[in-house]
Amino acid sequence: MKVVLGREVEGRYRYWDDIQLVHRALPEVDFEEVDPSITLLGHRLRAPIVITGMTGGFPDAAKINENLARAAAEVGVAMGVGSERAAVLKGQYPKSYSCVARHAVPLKFANIGAPQIIPQKARDRVVGADEVRAAMELIGADFLAIHLNFLQEMVQPEGDRRAKGCLERIGELAQRFPVLVKETGAGISSSVAEGLRERGVRAFDVSGTGGTSFAAVEYYRAVDQGAQREARVGKTFWDWGIPSPVSVLELVPLGLPVIASGGVRSGLDVARALALGASAAGTAGGVLRAASTGYEETRTELATLVHELKVAMFLTGSRTVEDLRKAPYVITGETRPWLHR
Ligand SMILES: Cc1cc2nc3c(=O)[nH]c(=O)nc-3n(C[C@H](O)[C@H](O)[C@H](O)COP(=O)(O)O)c2cc1C
Repeated sequence: MKVVLGREVEGRYRYWDDIQLVHRALPEVDFEEVDPSITLLGHRLRAPIVITGMTGGFPDAAKINENLARAAAEVGVAMGVGSERAAVLKGQYPKSYSCVARHAVPLKFANIGAPQIIPQKARDRVVGADEVRAAMELIGADFLAIHLNFLQEMVQPEGDRRAKGCLERIGELAQRFPVLVKETGAGISSSVAEGLRERGVRAFDVSGTGGTSFAAVEYYRAVDQGAQREARVGKTFWDWGIPSPVSVLELVPLGLPVIASGGVRSGLDVARALALGASAAGTAGGVLRAASTGYEETRTELATLVHELKVAMFLTGSRTVEDLRKAPYVITGETRPWLHR
């Protein structure tokens, strides 16, 4: 948290700027008619925005989650919390999550990491169905987000290195709970998503490259710990992954709801994501500073994202999000060659 707020951890290239929406000089719609509301995973949102999972498990996180939940309820957008492992396995600061349950957030995501659903060391406890149920109840969640963060694990000196069996375990959990799978800044390819869809996963959050880089976050932590090899890996893999817009374009044809995240920093980025076919757009790094400052700042930031989205909708002649999905766009820059891979 401190690293993300205090250091430079963004990816070096802004892939969303490569998605250019075509201006419509005669919009033939009134701005006040523009309606960004959607239904996502069966829940009505006033705007197609998700605050993706960030925090919980320590005392200061309660204030951040409280600010986010209160503002998300007020503005009418979805939110997730950070990994709940510490709360469900060790009982650490459950209040830093449960504060979310008190607010009428229209769609809430519980959060568990894929490395924690398989044994890492011989005597480790894993997160099983009982812990998942507890994680969901703690915040009154509608969905479980299982995050994939193997890039981060490889830069952490104490990182979890086992990944075999995760796919089957995700499949088992997806038979019992409504599961969304998300990345954490390195994107999801169509082949990985297909395997997950076959096993019952119901939605994806791409969290691609171009926003918060967890190789960068862990690089600073490795430097502080004197872990030279991991620091080097963090630097080398700083920009590793699939660009967020590319991941969206790969996953939309699979037919499940896709949340576009990773580097979404404005309402224009949200509009770009929807034009590519995403069901909604998500941001973490884009609201963290406001959330760590106060409720008013968080509400203002979310309301500004919605306003910018509406401006983009107006200037493309889109009255609804469905109209925006048909808006013409051009793909330029470093994103373009990815389309031919
Ligand atoms: C401070 C911070 C903590 C995060 N913790 C989690 C987490 O516990 N679980 C998770 O699924 N994603 C976590 N993420 C990843 C975000 O949900 C998101 O996928 C990623 O940051 C990319 O989005 P962004 O570029 O908008 O930040 C975290 C992000 C930040 C900035």
